[in-house]
Amino acid sequence: MTTPARQKSGYLERIEALLYDPDIGARLNEPAFRALPTEVGELATRAFMKDSVADQQHVHEVLYAINVASLALPWEHKAVQVDHPFIAQIRYAIESAWDRADRQRHKALLDSLPPVEKFEEWVTSHIRDHSSNVSHPLFRFLKEDATRDQLRLFFFQESPFDIFHADLITLMMPGVYGQMKAEMAHNFNDEMGDGAGEAAVHRTIRIETGRQMGIDTDAHIRQINRFVAEELALSNMYFDGIKNRGKLVQGIGMMLATETMVPGRINHQIQGFRRNGMDGDQIYYLTLHAEVDVGHGADWMRNVVLPLVRKHPETMRELMLGVERRLYQAGAVCDRMMTYLRDAEPATVEVA
Ligand SMILES: [Fe+2]
Ligand SMILES: [Fe+2]
Repeated sequence: MTTPARQKSGYLERIEALLYDPDIGARLNEPAFRALPTEVGELATRAFMKDSVADQQHVHEVLYAINVASLALPWEHKAVQVDHPFIAQIRYAIESAWDRADRQRHKALLDSLPPVEKFEEWVTSHIRDHSSNVSHPLFRFLKEDATRDQLRLFFFQESPFDIFHADLITLMMPGVYGQMKAEMAHNFNDEMGDGAGEAAVHRTIRIETGRQMGIDTDAHIRQINRFVAEELALSNMYFDGIKNRGKLVQGIGMMLATETMVPGRINHQIQGFRRNGMDGDQIYYLTLHAEVDVGHGADWMRNVVLPLVRKHPETMRELMLGVERRLYQAGAVCDRMMTYLRDAEPATVEVA
């Protein structure tokens, strides 16, 4: 099964060229590159203010390429220009347009928050009952009807979000101390396989699981255009809520939604894979998270979210914006996957 072959857009080609060019200054003398912030600004306005789906694809590819570069290693590239002001300007243009649109989209919910003492119960049932959770038809489809190729393709499409999970937790930690830090460190330690060596690291397990499924485990870095906008957006949203220091409360809310939702959703995938004859090591990444994230969700609530909103009730609105953006984006992924998986051509997702 293959992802639809789509050329890299001119936007993506130009941003990737700039991000790793040792002589970015010379490159910026070329009109095509100099025009990029203006073009991307217009793209972001159409994508977020006018809900243009084609523009959302382009804009999330550009933003995701920047986020990938923010974790790029100087010993693997001649240069990493992610902190150049020209790149920062492009990133800011995209994220600020997205921010305006999302605050507007979720305003009604944010205006009807419960008192702090009722928050835990309220947010827990809000996440549980959200239309993007297990009740979404996608999960019944994955469990009961999806072919092995469709399940593999879904796993592949989830790469941009899954693969950076531990990196994002790390990025949350500097400057945070006390009980919150201890919980983040505990969560991170689980991601690292609790000291049992590299093979136990969740990222390693995910890559190995992907390899066993025969999917391309490098595409999330090298072939960004193979991923749908909704999946790239989910990844970009986390970078937005965590790398932007002023949005860290949103990042904490996003993490709450993720850790709380994952176990139920993943159980449906597991049953789908088992129905197709895959089990054990072949799907270990999934069975592992069906268990470990139950504790993660409850611990994140108890040790990070509740201490924060009790001590600083004014953060509840921003925290809930993070939760709601995450749930909304997960819903967009589910909706898109229903048609995307059904339309995909049978072929092979190649191993790199
Ligand atoms: Fe994990
Ligand atoms: Fe987790």
